[in-house]
Amino acid sequence: MNRNDELFERAQRTIPAGVNSPVRAFRSVGGTPRFLARGEGPYVWDADGRRYIDYVGSWGPAIVGHAHPEVVRAVQDAARHGLSFGAPTEIEIEMAETLVRRLPSLELVRLVSSGTEATMSALRLARGHTGRPKIVKFEGCYHGHGDSLLVKAGSGALTFGQPSSAGVPPGIANLTIVLPYNDVAAVEAAFRADGDAIACVIVEPIAGNMNMVVPDDGYLAALRAICDRHGAVLIFDEVMTGFRVHPRGVQGLVGVTPDLTTLGKVIGGGMPVGAFGGRREIMAKIAPLGPVYQAGTLSGNPVAVAAGLATLALTEAPGFYERLAAKARALVDGLEAAAKRAGVPFRANAVGGMFGLYFADRVPSTCDAVMACDKERFNRFFHAMLDAGVYLAPSAYEAGFVSAAHGDADIAETVRLAERAFVAAAR
Ligand SMILES: Cc1ncc(COP(=O)(O)O)c(C=O)c1O
Repeated sequence: MNRNDELFERAQRTIPAGVNSPVRAFRSVGGTPRFLARGEGPYVWDADGRRYIDYVGSWGPAIVGHAHPEVVRAVQDAARHGLSFGAPTEIEIEMAETLVRRLPSLELVRLVSSGTEATMSALRLARGHTGRPKIVKFEGCYHGHGDSLLVKAGSGALTFGQPSSAGVPPGIANLTIVLPYNDVAAVEAAFRADGDAIACVIVEPIAGNMNMVVPDDGYLAALRAICDRHGAVLIFDEVMTGFRVHPRGVQGLVGVTPDLTTLGKVIGGGMPVGAFGGRREIMAKIAPLGPVYQAGTLSGNPVAVAAGLATLALTEAPGFYERLAAKARALVDGLEAAAKRAGVPFRANAVGGMFGLYFADRVPSTCDAVMACDKERFNRFFHAMLDAGVYLAPSAYEAGFVSAAHGDADIAETVRLAERAFVAAAR
């Protein structure tokens, strides 16, 4: 028995399914999850010492690669001064100023410790601000595991065929209106029927939890116009896309300004940092300025914020996002060409440092179209790549991530290895 298998067996004795987040368990692709021991740049090493080119990047945060020396140094320096105080610190101001400078839709921003906390808090704020109970979300979008948001959700919820979680009382689930992504008419109809009761629309402005699905031209602008017409709050959940697809997030890429934005992943650089922010008038409703309660013992934790700030500073290097996007583009173009040579119906797409892989003839634009992709082929491809030393997300319903540390040689090596994996997938 190898060390991975040993660890997996041991983990399952004390941790449900041996993992602390469901998709890590490899249930949808089968096999034993790799227990990772170390990461450096674009690579991770498992407990048996095998190296992989990593396209998960901790599910998004590792935009500058693993264990970047400047990020590690910032963490060490911060840790030396104390791990947590539960009192305000100067570095939190630096983070807030950085976020407000880079995302002009943010006038005030509050730090939390995860993306889930950010979206849960933003929903409560939207409800408190409007005095309305209902929310609109979209099929296949995942916004963390808050009760109101685990209705037809993406990510692990979609992977395991449990898009709506047990344990969410109907009284809460019934307040969530779920509509198909990229369908403006459905949103208009929902507001016609129920507009006075809808507090907010929450959307992944590029969806990354049902594989990657990009918004149709004009879709986000249409959501903006509908929310304006009905006095509802538009929330862009940029936990995944923030500072990942563009220096100013999807809002900067498409030029649509949300009322509230939620952030996570990259802004913590691999440490637990989330944030929600937006228009002053709405954010001023948060306690202790206003009546909407929200708090956290570890919110704005100085060590975590140091990692995030160092990461964000690295993304401000001239040409950072152009280089990142070029790498992701080279990867998806290379994979499409390799699949073609293997005679496998396959498409791939990338925006900034985020990409999607689809065993289908066309790039999907809805959750239904993603579900119609050939999952068995993906699973065979995934395992062939893993065996060859490439670590992809262990699910057909997740986006992938390229980091600034991935070199041209890593991308070329990945494409070369994919050549054989596509043949294996086709069987
Ligand atoms: C768009 C989006 N929102 C929210 C979350 C939840 O973030 P966290 O896992 O940090 O709680 C995720 C996590 O994948 C996400 O992708």
